Amino acid sequence: MEVLLRRKLFMNATYKFFTYLILLLQCGFLAHALLDPVDFLALQSIRKSLNDLPGSNYFATWDFTSDPCNFAGVLCDGDKVIALNLGDPRAGSPGLTGRIDPAIGKLSALAELTIVPGRVIGSLPPTLSRLKYLRFLAISHNFISGEIPPSLGELHGLQTLDLSFNQLTGSIPFSIGTLPALSNVILCHNRLNGSVPPFLSQTLTRLDLKHNDLSGSLPPLGLPPSLQYLSLSWNRLSGPLDRVLSRLNQLNYVDLSMNRFTGPIPANLFTFPITNLQLQRNQFSGPVQPVVQVTIPTVDLSFNRLSGEISPTFATVQNLYLNNNRFTGQVPSSLVDQLLSASIQVLYLQHNYLTGIEINPTVEIPVSSSLYTPCPDKAGTEKARPTSQCIEWKG
Ligand SMILES: *[C@@H]1O[C@H](CO)[C@@H](O)[C@H](O)[C@H]1NC(C)=O
Repeated sequence: MEVLLRRKLFMNATYKFFTYLILLLQCGFLAHALLDPVDFLALQSIRKSLNDLPGSNYFATWDFTSDPCNFAGVLCDGDKVIALNLGDPRAGSPGLTGRIDPAIGKLSALAELTIVPGRVIGSLPPTLSRLKYLRFLAISHNFISGEIPPSLGELHGLQTLDLSFNQLTGSIPFSIGTLPALSNVILCHNRLNGSVPPFLSQTLTRLDLKHNDLSGSLPPLGLPPSLQYLSLSWNRLSGPLDRVLSRLNQLNYVDLSMNRFTGPIPANLFTFPITNLQLQRNQFSGPVQPVVQVTIPTVDLSFNRLSGEISPTFATVQNLYLNNNRFTGQVPSSLVDQLLSASIQVLYLQHNYLTGIEINPTVEIPVSSSLYTPCPDKAGTEKARPTSQCIEWKG
């Protein structure tokens, strides 16, 4: 009779849960708390909807007759799961396949949820919004599709949201932008459309939305001054940005390339602690007149509609791309001097309305430097520079 009953239970998904309860009773109440049964059942459901890809052994330790707090990737505090890191995090592990079970929303003390790169499909369960203590949510490099649930805007403690390299569609919910504790938002390489919502968190340091299908303009106060890393490249964003950017004086990485931004580039942008400024392939216009010597190592303003003379303040940039604009006048001699002393490594000036470049034809441009500029009509007393120094842009 007992054997039969046991067999029946074995067929039942809850069998292991009962053995776990029996184990719990047999052990008496141990000094350390055993896992909350609600969390136990949630982990069982999560396990049932995910599997190791061939070559991954992540779930080998997930034996529900033992304490789940000892499973790989499960971290408990008392009787609750507080962190769930699904999949073998070692480099080269093939990751997991399957779906994210909605029961994940029952892990009521969860603060951290990650899934390693793999082939997890399906949508993000809206039940994620029940994880009131969630601070860190990272599910990147999988095949998650559907929309970002607007209810994630209820996760008031969320600091990191990384859903990059998936197949998410629809817009970025307005509610996400209202989360007060956000510091990292990484939604790059998806198929998100619609506009960029205003981000209100005053601790936001990283916003990466590149490679999506976002459009529309950014509201002037749409990004907080705490921002250090901003990438919006490869979208269809438009409108002026000078009022948005001129407030963001903590920026150290800026990539707004491959959009349709218009209007002027604010002069004070060049005073921010930026190491890489990528504004190429937009429709920025007007003169660019930094007020101090520019010390940003790489500045790419190519393929815009910038005009006026090239400012000598750019002479201290190492890699400078000003090609394919509407700059006029002479190339400042300070730029040429820096090029000859190999302080400038790349100087692209082709496809502008420049009338000349002052360069002594007897000097050699250092081999480590690249100069792409149309040959000037005259160069000092010589008719032209040596052709080896005179490379026409073919691109
Ligand atoms: C966004 O894409 C969806 C299809 O995924 C489409 O139905 C919707 O109209 C698009 N919205 C915008 C603003 O382009």
